[in-house]
Order: sequence, then C-alpha cells, then structure tokens
Amino acid sequence: MPTALITGVTGQDGSYLAELLLARGYEVHAIVRREAIEDADRRLANISHLTKSLQLHVASIDNHLSVYKIIASVVPDECYHLAAASFVSYSFDDEASVLQSNFNATHFLLTSLKELAPHCRFYFAGSSEMFGHALGTPQDESTEFNPRSIYGISKLAAYHLVRNYRQNHGMFACAGILYNHESPRRGFEFVTRKITSAVARIHLGHATTIELGNVEARRDWGYAPDYVDAMHRIMRHDVPDDFVIATGTLHSVRDVLECAFAVVGLDYRSHLRFNPEYFRPDEAVTLCGNHAKAKRLLGWTPTRKLEDIVDEMVRKDIALLGAKE
Ligand code: GDD
Repeated sequence: MPTALITGVTGQDGSYLAELLLARGYEVHAIVRREAIEDADRRLANISHLTKSLQLHVASIDNHLSVYKIIASVVPDECYHLAAASFVSYSFDDEASVLQSNFNATHFLLTSLKELAPHCRFYFAGSSEMFGHALGTPQDESTEFNPRSIYGISKLAAYHLVRNYRQNHGMFACAGILYNHESPRRGFEFVTRKITSAVARIHLGHATTIELGNVEARRDWGYAPDYVDAMHRIMRHDVPDDFVIATGTLHSVRDVLECAFAVVGLDYRSHLRFNPEYFRPDEAVTLCGNHAKAKRLLGWTPTRKLEDIVDEMVRKDIALLGAKE
C-alpha cells in the first residue's frame, strides 16, 4: 500500500485529494496545525467525514524540526505540498509572513525528503499568479513568469526550489501551475464562495445585499475535484515535470453573480453593492491557461462548466445554512 503525506489537508484541495488517495488504496497521512485540532468543528469541517481514515500529525510546517520528524516517521512515497498562505493580498503588512511561510515550508519538506525519503515523489501547488502580468496569453509551461503580487513571488520562489531539487538532486519533484478552481468546499474569502454563500443568505432571508470589488475582473475558473485528479496524474506520470492546469475559458465575476442568483430566481443587480475595500489595484492583465500539455501527456481535461460548479455551490450553501436554522 503506497503512503502519501499531504500538507493543507483541511483546505478545499487537500480534502478532495485525501478522498481520492484513500479511494485509490493509499495510506494517507496529513500534517495539521494544533489550532485546527482545537477548533475542529470549524477548521476540520472539510475532512470531518475522513478523520477516522486519515493519520493526522499535529505540527506546524513552519518548523523545520517538526517537518523532519514527521518525514522520518512516515517515510512517504508521495508528498503533496498544498498548504500555503493562499489569499492573493496586495497588503504590504502580509509580505514577510507570506514569503516566509510559502517558501520555507517547501524548503523544509524538500530537504527532509532528500535526506530521509529520496525515493518520495513531491508535488508542489504552483499558481497562475506566478505569471502575474503575463507576457503572453493563453499561458503555458513555456510562458515567462512575471508575478505581480507577493503571493505570486512567494510561489515562484518555491517553484524554483522544486525545479532545483529535480534538476540538481535528482528528485521526482513536480509542480502543477493551477488556475482558480472552485467547489462547495472553497474558502469563504474567495469570490465564488463569497457570492454563493451570500445568495444562500439572501434566499433564506438573512441578508439583502452583497458587497464586492471589481465585478468585471475575469478568471479561468475550473472545478476543484478535476484539479486534484490532475495532481495525482502529475505524480503518476513517468517523469517529473510541470503542468499548467486550467480550463482555457474566461468568465467575469459578473457572470458568476448572474449564474448564482439565477439558481434562486433573483436578479443580482438588485442586491449588489460596490465596496472599494475589495478592489484590487493591479489586475489589468487577465490570466487564462492552456492545458494542452496536460491533455497530451496526462490525458487530463476539465469536466465541468462554470455554471454547473456555481449551481452546485449555491445549492450546497442553501442546504448548509438551512440545516443551521
Ligand atoms: N476575494 C474577492 N472578494 N475577490 C473579488 C471581490 C471580492 O469581494 N470582488 C471582486 N473580486 C475579484 C478579484 O479582484 C479577482 O479578480 C477575482 O474576483 C477572484 O478573486 P479570488 O476568488 O479571491 O481568487 P484569486 O484569483 O485572487 O486567487 C485564487 O486563485 C489563484 C490561482 O489563479 C486563489 O485560490 C489563489 O490561491 C490561487 O493561486
């Protein structure tokens, strides 16, 4: 039975990945923070149905010794590093912590694996934000990186580390360069979930409005379970490599609003308020990915359209809120 280790298991992607690996016969270990265990109802919600099947290790991946000890005891065959400060913020206050945690944790994992489990395959969750002010569109694996946010810079620095461990230390280290991907398990701070949860509140009479920033902003949005499947394909490929995982189709935040409110028969225009606090200053370039390489080498293609993803999210949010009433 192969052994997998996941960081970021409590998040959207980690929880779907844990399900997928368990279903495929893996022994699945995961690193979770003490704070998550202490606030299990909220922070372990995405994996509450899996806790009996998972082997959880309580530690901070910002601590090198903790990471080293866990790798020494688990000796994984595959390690999926998904944990990150993942909200794209343009605030200078967050810079040091985002840079440190996104880069250092990747380093601690790679250096420990190199010493204790050099056979282990390593997956790094890269991001389209690494392309930033992209120098070409759609972006693929040969497009030059040009990050515009500290988050993008931190991901790109860690990505170079991953490539270095592959090229100079011979490790099976790879990266998925993932575009936005959504599901009913998306965090509430991201725009799709912010919208679908607001629609649920409005529909059930708990709220009347939603405040957003730039509704003309466009994104290449896919379905999270598809993207987690891509991660596993990347790890099972015969050679370590990097892949863009995207749909290649753009939609605006306004499109998401339209789809989400339509599920409950409402017109978003009666409920939308602009709040400059949510407006991002540096979004002139729209990112759109080309997944041709993943299709050709991994047989991967996206399976869901945005309207179907949003429909599932709205219905789930209504059910969740309804159950609390
Ligand atoms: N969050 C948020 N809140 N976004 C808003 C709002 C708002 O009120 N109003 C408009 N937007 C716009 C943002 O300006 C952005 O253009 C778009 O909605 C999507 O924002 P998010 O859902 O926060 O996602 P993101 O694109 O910044 O980042 C996500 O995708 C990246 C991959 O491309 C995250 O998952 C990152 O971790 C990931 O790397």
